[in-house]
Amino acid sequence: MDTPWIQTHDLCRYYRRGPQQVRAVDGVNLSIDRGEFLGIVGASGSGKSTILNLLAGLDSPTSGSIDFEGVPLGSLNRRQLAAYRAHRVGMIFQSFNLLGHHTALGNVELALYFNDTPHRERTRLAAETLKRLGLGDRLDHRPGDLSGGEQQRVAIARALVKRPEILFADEPTGNLDHENTRQIAELLTDLNRQGLTVVMVTHDLDLARQCTQRMIRMHYGRLAAPKDPAFGGGTAS
Ligand SMILES: Nc1ncnc2c1ncn2[C@@H]1O[C@H](COP(=O)(O)OP(=O)(O)OP(=O)(O)O)[C@@H](O)[C@H]1O
Ligand SMILES: [Mg+2]
Repeated sequence: MDTPWIQTHDLCRYYRRGPQQVRAVDGVNLSIDRGEFLGIVGASGSGKSTILNLLAGLDSPTSGSIDFEGVPLGSLNRRQLAAYRAHRVGMIFQSFNLLGHHTALGNVELALYFNDTPHRERTRLAAETLKRLGLGDRLDHRPGDLSGGEQQRVAIARALVKRPEILFADEPTGNLDHENTRQIAELLTDLNRQGLTVVMVTHDLDLARQCTQRMIRMHYGRLAAPKDPAFGGGTAS
């Protein structure tokens, strides 16, 4: 059998809170194929954001490992890990994480700064991506002067502008109305058809059914057993 593109092995991320230990991710074995559109659903606090941060190389596991193309992320040095984040991975954060003192354009350009794109090219690509997301007339606005939905779209533009191989999207439509949700769903489906691998966390089951090829459910840090035939993948435990 071929090695999966991404494979987690007994992945755990525990947090210590005083005397208490929170098992945010607790022994997850999950594989992700190149080109797939995977949905992650589950109750609030079930570990969805935590596992996304681990997969994106933004956080380190307490134990267990993540192999990317057969190489454990834990074996990469700082420079290699930075390159993984800057070139291969796009991340849409649940809380946007936009920089308040930068404009919409500046926020999107920054993603290319860490990715060694020349300055002029950065501005062009950032403006083009924002226009694609319907923000062509908001380039000079700062996040504080944008609506929640507009900030969300800036965060999406920032993740997409560097043309990542894999997009981790944490509630990418959480702040959007029906029409904008539909547009983002179409955009992500389109990008996936063009080869982008997408891992999307969402509370919106309709959206997940519409976009994804496979859904997994997290339950107290573990992969839950499938509840209906649309769910599958990973080890239920
Ligand atoms: N830095 C932290 N310190 C301590 N506990 C944390 C920390 N980050 C997350 N947790 C805990 O880990 C668990 C999983 O959190 P996580 O953010 O992954 O949940 P989630 O599934 O994304 O929830 P939501 O749907 O509300 O976004 C929660 O119980 C949370 O309180
Ligand atoms: Mg979350």
